[in-house]
Amino acid sequence: MNIGVLGTGIVGQTIGSKLVQLGHHVMMGSRDAANPKAIRWAKAEGPRASFGTFANAASFGEIIFNCTLGSVSLDALRQAGAANMKGKVLIDTSNPLDYSTDAWSLTVSNTDSLGEQIQREFPNTLVVKSLNTMNCNIMVDPRKLSEKTDVFVSGNDVEAKATVVMILRDWFGWRSVIDLGDITTSRGVEMFVLLWHNLRNVVSSPRFNIRIVS
Ligand SMILES: NC(=O)c1ccc[n+]([C@@H]2O[C@H](COP(=O)([O-])OP(=O)(O)OC[C@H]3O[C@@H](n4cnc5c(N)ncnc54)[C@H](OP(=O)(O)O)[C@@H]3O)[C@@H](O)[C@H]2O)c1
Repeated sequence: MNIGVLGTGIVGQTIGSKLVQLGHHVMMGSRDAANPKAIRWAKAEGPRASFGTFANAASFGEIIFNCTLGSVSLDALRQAGAANMKGKVLIDTSNPLDYSTDAWSLTVSNTDSLGEQIQREFPNTLVVKSLNTMNCNIMVDPRKLSEKTDVFVSGNDVEAKATVVMILRDWFGWRSVIDLGDITTSRGVEMFVLLWHNLRNVVSSPRFNIRIVS
């Protein structure tokens, strides 16, 4: 498939590389059509990897990953363009962390979430929140962990979520995918990032994840 990855950070690079290794064609999007990180990434990944603006990558992708800084994801997606994302599944990996203060906090929480804000602003895009509850190395390779753990999906469109579940299971190797419900369930998984950061201070590695036991 042709896949657009919006974001040149570690998440965009890790997901983009995994998708290229799986045989897909991936365009990495940035504010700058010639972002040095995107150029280096594409060069390292070979002919199936390319780069461009957020709009170029969104237009290129049959499926789009949002891997942009959560506090400004809406701006990045506006640059990607509603028309370029119309009717497409957007997998939103972002967390709305507020880096303007020393304490960990979110730019939106409790009664709203970034996932919902994105879905409201782009009603013709099929937003599925997923993968934001773990380190990016685990996102694309859950078998790095010693035991089976869980990943979540949140979204309004049942078929879009089924597509994302297929990607998680068949492409990334997840064995347990929990459908939390509609896009409002993004609130919980986004607020979890605060606990994730507390855990990061006491767990020796970022490679850990949630496992639901009942
Ligand atoms: N790191 C992890 O393992 C992890 C795990 C779970 C979730 N997440 C979430 O995944 C997302 C990506 O994280 P990351 O660490 O890879 O990268 P990041 O540093 O959070 O975001 C990098 C991307 O954000 C874009 N960006 C920055 N400022 C912008 C602005 N003012 N307007 C538009 N776009 C802007 C950058 O654009 P340019 O390319 O133009 O510079 C770049 O593509 C974040 O929301 C993060 O919370 C990360």
